[in-house]
Amino acid sequence: MKLLVANWKMAPETAIQAVALTKKIHAIARATKKNITTVICPPFIHLQVVSKNARTLFVGAQGVAPVTTIATTGMVSASMLKGAGVTYCIVGHSESRARGETNDLVKEQLDRLLEKKIIPILCVGEHDRDPHGWYLSTIKDQIETALLNIPKATLKRIVIAYEPVWAIGEHATREATPVECNEMVIFIKKIIADLYDEKVASGMTILYGGSVTEINASVFVTDGGADGLLVGRVSLDPKRFGTLAQRIATVVS
Ligand code: PGA
Repeated sequence: MKLLVANWKMAPETAIQAVALTKKIHAIARATKKNITTVICPPFIHLQVVSKNARTLFVGAQGVAPVTTIATTGMVSASMLKGAGVTYCIVGHSESRARGETNDLVKEQLDRLLEKKIIPILCVGEHDRDPHGWYLSTIKDQIETALLNIPKATLKRIVIAYEPVWAIGEHATREATPVECNEMVIFIKKIIADLYDEKVASGMTILYGGSVTEINASVFVTDGGADGLLVGRVSLDPKRFGTLAQRIATVVS
């Protein structure tokens, strides 16, 4: 079973468009449900209407307040997300980190989500790669801070997404190669194994994200060793997302 997460970012513009997109993705997901769990992550404002139309799709949010106090202007709490039908939530996305989210704030968000039994999708990734591999310590810090004091039994309720910042969005230089993806999946599992043990590490769900398209998607799952994908731009195009899902389903079955 692979996990396919659609990150709609700050789109679509209207609730009507969000419902239409949800219905189209539901039809895609129905055809691939034997092999793929599909999660759609709309902006906060569309969460309720998307949840109402999600049927067998899972709904995710794109962030959560790091605290529970009401005096938190502009944020949405984990319990509000739960009430809106949210099962997953992206945290630590590089676009949120670029707005000032630190590793400590990401950790607070992750804790708030776990308290409400929402599955965090923890995004980690380096800005650049240096030839000495020092960038690996960025990933290690991101994971170690987020998992501080998290008991071993809780790890199965956490997803990690490797998203190199240089591969994300319209300013991406390129997507990762399957080899780069595979090395990072192994590296992330090694970090978990060192913090906990190999058994729990090998059971973790590790996604790849960054310029995933219907053309390159399946190779991340086969050669890249990813347990699924976090898809941005292409997830707003049902035709391309449908082809992507079908190709993943074919290589998984
Ligand atoms: P992209 O975005 O697929 O548009 O590169 C991925 C992401 O930001 O999660």
